[in-house]
Formats: sequence, structure tokens, C-alpha cells
Amino acid sequence: MSFNDYLQQCQQQVQRALPTMLGSAGSEFSDADAGQALTRLFEASHYSLMNGGKRVRATLVYATAHALDADIDDNALDSCACAIEMIHAYSLVHDDLPAMDDDALRRGKPTCHIAYDEATAILVGDGLQSRAFELLTELSLPAENCLAMLRLLAAASGPRGMVGGQAIDLANVNRQLDLATLQTMHQLKTGALIRAAIGLAALASNASAQQRQQLDNYGQAIGLAFQVQDDILDIEGDTAILGKTQGADQSLNKPTFPALLGLDGAKALAQQLHEQALTALQDFGPGADALRQLSNYIIERRH
Ligand code: IPE
Ligand code: IPE
Ligand code: MG
Ligand code: MG
Ligand code: MG
Repeated sequence: MSFNDYLQQCQQQVQRALPTMLGSAGSEFSDADAGQALTRLFEASHYSLMNGGKRVRATLVYATAHALDADIDDNALDSCACAIEMIHAYSLVHDDLPAMDDDALRRGKPTCHIAYDEATAILVGDGLQSRAFELLTELSLPAENCLAMLRLLAAASGPRGMVGGQAIDLANVNRQLDLATLQTMHQLKTGALIRAAIGLAALASNASAQQRQQLDNYGQAIGLAFQVQDDILDIEGDTAILGKTQGADQSLNKPTFPALLGLDGAKALAQQLHEQALTALQDFGPGADALRQLSNYIIERRH
């Protein structure tokens, strides 16, 4: 199967699972049917979750289980894929808010706060986040694995992970960061969730500590490469293909890798990280080819 077909298959799989995993408004906490009153919140959540997206993090979940030749049921993997995509979608909805990057376009459509309103967008993010964690409590895996998975997702999403990276990003608008701090920011705001996608699948697959470490080394390299390429595309991309506004970082004077290293320097770094990712997988056989190709896709993608 070509990598494009593999990617498409993973995208379809998570796309099918997401609406069910999001669920509907019926609640165990109210006697009355809360559905009607919550229609708008659920609609906006659905809008932000289902509106395309490359589904790279979901694909990492499936490809990691594949690399480990894991014998786990599809439902557990779908839950991991949906949980990580929900956290990611929440991070994007909040990232686009006027108080953050103030973006009007996401995945080729008006951002959540434009299509709905700011308060709804805040609540959509909050709701997607809670639901992601709830999903991991519903897995039919040993409790010990579930606990480790919950801990990983919480750590990667929180102030020592994605949220921390976003805080560094916003605190450094109009400033030039040194390379080490910039790298830390990228590792946190984007790398942490990418590593978590791989780590969740590895824990669900009962990978050995050594396999988990090797996969995490791979994740560290592609996690950073992912944001380096995102920064490159802000300069070289095309709004119509990107589905988000090209030049947004430049107009806000954001700290980015191209701003510090130049475009060529950033591209060289992306290539170097791709090679690092391949090295991390050297003990894995052909089952890990999708992960290898995914690393290549991350630095060559145009959106
Ligand atoms: C965009 O992520 C935000 C970053 C963390 C760089 P993606 O490029 O994965 O966005 P979607 O999910 O495909 O829209
Ligand atoms: C966002 O980084 C990282 C997140 C945690 C959402 P960016 O601000 O560069 O993402 P885009 O370019 O808006 O997708
Ligand atoms: Mg941002
Ligand atoms: Mg942004
Ligand atoms: Mg960006």
C-alpha cells in the first residue's frame, strides 16, 4: 500500500470514529433532556472536530501500533486516536481566539469563534479536552495501562506540555528568542502532543520500555520537525492550500525557526530531524515503514 493510501485509510478510520466518541448532549447529571439547550455547543464542537485536518496525530497512533505488531482491538486504538485529535482540535480552537493568534481561517473554514462566537469557542475547547480524558477511562485495557495513558496525555497537554509552549509563544511576540528557548517552545507547544500520540499507542500495545524509548526518540525528532515545517509553511505556503492564513506569524512578529535561522537554516534543521527520526527506528523492521514515511511527509507536506 502506498503511504498516501495508508494516510487516507487512517484519516477515514478516525473520521468515522470521532462523532461517536464525541457523543451527544444526553446527560447523567440532569433529569430533563438537556439536548435542546446544548445543541449549539455540540454543533460547534462537531464543526471544530470534523472540519478536515490532516489527522497526523491519529495516524501516528495507528502507525505506532502497526510498528509494534500489536494485537489490540480497533476500538482501543480509535479511542486513543480520537482523544489525541480532540486535544489537538481544542488547542487549535483556543490558538485561533482573538486573545491568542486572532485567526479567522482554520482548515479552510471560518474559525470556531467566527462561525459561532468567542464564548462558544472557549467552551468547545474546554469540552473537547474533558471528553478526551473521559475516553481514556473507558478503554478495555488493564487499569495500570489506562492510568499511564491518562498521565501521559495530561502531562503532554498541560502547563509542562502544550499549554506551557503556548504561554512561551504568546509571551514572546515581538521578541527574538535564543535558539534553545525557541526549541523548548516548539517541543512543548507541538512536540509534546505528537510524542503523546505515539506514547499512548505504545502503552496500549504493551510495548517494552526499550521500544517505548526508541519510539519516543522518534517522536521527539518529528515533533520538533512538525513545528519547524509549520513555521516554514507560514512563509512559503499558500493560504488556499494551507487552509489557514499564510503569513500569520510574520504579521504578528511571532518567534519562529525561520525568523531565527533563516528559511534555509530551518529547512536544513527539518531534514536533520527527519534523519534523526529514521535513526531512532533502526531496530524496527518493515512494520515501522509507515512511521518512517510519516516523518518524510511531515517535512515535505505543503499544508
Ligand atoms: C497545526 O497542526 C498546529 C500545529 C501544532 C503546528 P496541524 O498542521 O496538524 O493541523 P491540522 O490538524 O492538520 O489542521
Ligand atoms: C499552534 O502553533 C500550536 C498549538 C498548540 C495549537 P501555531 O499557532 O503555529 O499553529 P497554527 O499555525 O495557527 O496552526
Ligand atoms: Mg499559535
Ligand atoms: Mg496559530
Ligand atoms: Mg503556525
